[in-house]
Amino acid sequence: MTEETDWVPQGIDLERPSAARLYDYLLGGGHNFAHDRELAERFLVAQPNAREIARHNRAFLRRSVLFMIQNGVRQFLDLGSGIPTVGNVHEIAQEADPTARVVYVDYEEVAYAHSALILADNPLATIVQADLTRPGDVLNAPETVGLLDFTEPIGLLMAGVFHFVAPEKNPQKIIADYRDAIAPGSYLAFSQFTRDLMPAEMDRIVEVMKSSRDPMYPRSRPEITELFDGFDILEPGIVPTALWRPDTGLYDGDDPKRAGIYAGVGRKR
Ligand SMILES: C[S@@+](CC[C@H](N)C(=O)[O-])C[C@H]1O[C@@H](n2cnc3c(N)ncnc32)[C@H](O)[C@@H]1O
Repeated sequence: MTEETDWVPQGIDLERPSAARLYDYLLGGGHNFAHDRELAERFLVAQPNAREIARHNRAFLRRSVLFMIQNGVRQFLDLGSGIPTVGNVHEIAQEADPTARVVYVDYEEVAYAHSALILADNPLATIVQADLTRPGDVLNAPETVGLLDFTEPIGLLMAGVFHFVAPEKNPQKIIADYRDAIAPGSYLAFSQFTRDLMPAEMDRIVEVMKSSRDPMYPRSRPEITELFDGFDILEPGIVPTALWRPDTGLYDGDDPKRAGIYAGVGRKR
């Protein structure tokens, strides 16, 4: 089955579901196709509280951006930014300070096209279509160079994305390349799926995602801690998303392990 709508980018393979469109569906968005929704329904069987997990990841992203704003950061590099939804980084940051600058990065066609559309009239926010596992492509892109000042602190955002980076891609080196490009006092916000919290569900998710463009690789807390090399991990450490400096009564008494995802923020030395 195919779908035709005016926001569908040219040449996109509608038959191959993507993580960006699956996440959009879980968050209640409309930028997804039949095969994405089928994958999402299988994801929901594997991980019945997947929508809650997505919302908590998104809430962590928001809190981490506000934390960085409070600590003087006025520019952000958002890697694996996804399809624009409620509470995008430029909205959060520019509401706090209209001069805040944001570069989004995603390799997925719908994420790129829809971001470009909504940012067309925003001179202080842009999107680069690139693979974040190739830091040179991101850091040397004209949009990045044009908008970000690498002599000043940058908020490096890697929310809900590194579980798509295979161990063979050398994730530690990828993060080190970004770390070495940014000024001391910059921050890294990181979140990703783990087996530590909900192992049976995680194993099922990994199986489901094998049929997508974006297979998944959960990481343990020690593995995630290693990725923060060169950053001081701030309180409360690497914790389930809902426990990272919560600002509301999250989970309504549920076990925070149900977050399924670990989150943490570090400050570059
Ligand atoms: C689950 S979404 C997370 C969106 C957003 N960061 C958040 O936390 O709400 C993950 C996004 O990362 C993107 N992504 C995955 N691997 C990527 C890569 N190697 N390069 C660029 N984007 C990637 C996917 O296309 C998807 O849009």
